[in-house]
Amino acid sequence: MSILEEIEKIKLFALEEISKAQEISGLENLRVKYLGRNGNLTHILRSLEKYPLSDRKNIGKLANEIRLILEKEIDEKKKYSEDLEYKKLLENEKLDVTASINKISAGHLHPITKTLEKVEQIFSSMGFEIVDGPEVETEFYNFDALNVPAHHPARDMWDTFWLRQNEVKSEKLKVKSDGRLLMRTHTSPMQVRYMQKNKPPFRIIVPGKVFRREATDARHESTFYHLEGLMVGEDVNIANIKSVFEIFFSNFFEADAKIRLRPSYFPFVEPGLEGDVSCLICRGKGCRLCKNTGWLEIFGAGMVNQKVFIAAGYPKNKYQGFAFGFGLDRFPMMLYGIDDIRLFHSGDLRFLKQF
Ligand code: DAH
Repeated sequence: MSILEEIEKIKLFALEEISKAQEISGLENLRVKYLGRNGNLTHILRSLEKYPLSDRKNIGKLANEIRLILEKEIDEKKKYSEDLEYKKLLENEKLDVTASINKISAGHLHPITKTLEKVEQIFSSMGFEIVDGPEVETEFYNFDALNVPAHHPARDMWDTFWLRQNEVKSEKLKVKSDGRLLMRTHTSPMQVRYMQKNKPPFRIIVPGKVFRREATDARHESTFYHLEGLMVGEDVNIANIKSVFEIFFSNFFEADAKIRLRPSYFPFVEPGLEGDVSCLICRGKGCRLCKNTGWLEIFGAGMVNQKVFIAAGYPKNKYQGFAFGFGLDRFPMMLYGIDDIRLFHSGDLRFLKQF
C-alpha cells in the first residue's frame, strides 16, 4: 500500500470513529489519536523526509487536507454532542407546573397583637405617643411613686411577684433607693418614669405585659396585657376623659359608643373613676355579654393625684391631667366571644387558627 493510500485509509477509519463517538470525551480522545503530538497523521507529516523529494509535496498536501477535514468533523460533532447533552440536562430539569406541592402555610398575628395594633392606631390618631417600659420594675415606680406606700392596704389589690435581688443581673435597674424589684403589676409605673424626663403638655399610652400572682381561672391569668394612658397639661379635665373614650370606643367597635363614669378608688388618681362603655352587642338593651345591664365595665381612670406629680418632680398644683388603665385581653374576648382568658397563652393552634 502506498503512503497516499495509507493516508486515505487513516481518513476513512478516523471518520468512521468520529461518527460513532457518543460523548465529548470520546471525541477528545480521537483528536489526540489522529491529530495530537503522537497522532497517526502528525506522525506522517513529521517523517516526510523519509520519502523521495518528488512525493513529499503530494503526501504533505494530502495529509494536511485530511488533517483539516478531521479537525472540522471533530469540532462539528463536538458541538452537536454539546447541544445534545444540554438538551438532556434540560429534560431532566423539566418543571411540572401541574404537580401538587405541600403548601407552606403562612402564620398570622395573635388576636391580642391585632387588638393592640388597632388600639395603638386609634390613640395615635388622637395624638397619643406610644411608650414602652421595663417589665421588671422597682418598688418605687410600681408602688410608692403612685401613692401606694408599703403597708398601704391598696397594695393588696396587686398580688406581686417579687424578685430576689441577687438574681437580677441588669445594672440599670439596680437603683438602691428604689427598693426591691418585681415583675410590674401594671404599666402605670411609666407615668412617673415618663414625667421625670418630659414636661407637659403631653399624651401617652403605655401598652405592655403585666404580671400578678393570681390563681388562674377563666377570667384571670398571671400574665396579661395592660394599657395605661396619661394626658397632662394645665387645664386637662374629666370632660376630656369622656370624649377621648367616646372617640376611642366608637372607632374600636366601629359604632357609636356611650361612656359612663362612676366614682371609684385608685391611689394614684383623685377623684378616681370606673369607666363603662355601652354594650357593643346589644347597644344598651341588655344581653348575656353585659349581664343585662347594657354596660361593659372596662377601664379605671381619674384625675392624676398631685402626689404622683410631686413624685415625678413636678411642682404641686401647676399641672392637671387624667390617667386611665385597662386590660387589653378583654377586648378580643368580647369581640370574639372567647370565654376563657387562658386560651390566649395556651399555644393551642386549634384556638389560634380561628383568628
Ligand atoms: N393600674 C390600674 C390597675 O392595675 C389601672 C388603672 C386604674 C390605671 C385607674 C390608671 C387609673 O391610670 O387612673 O388596675
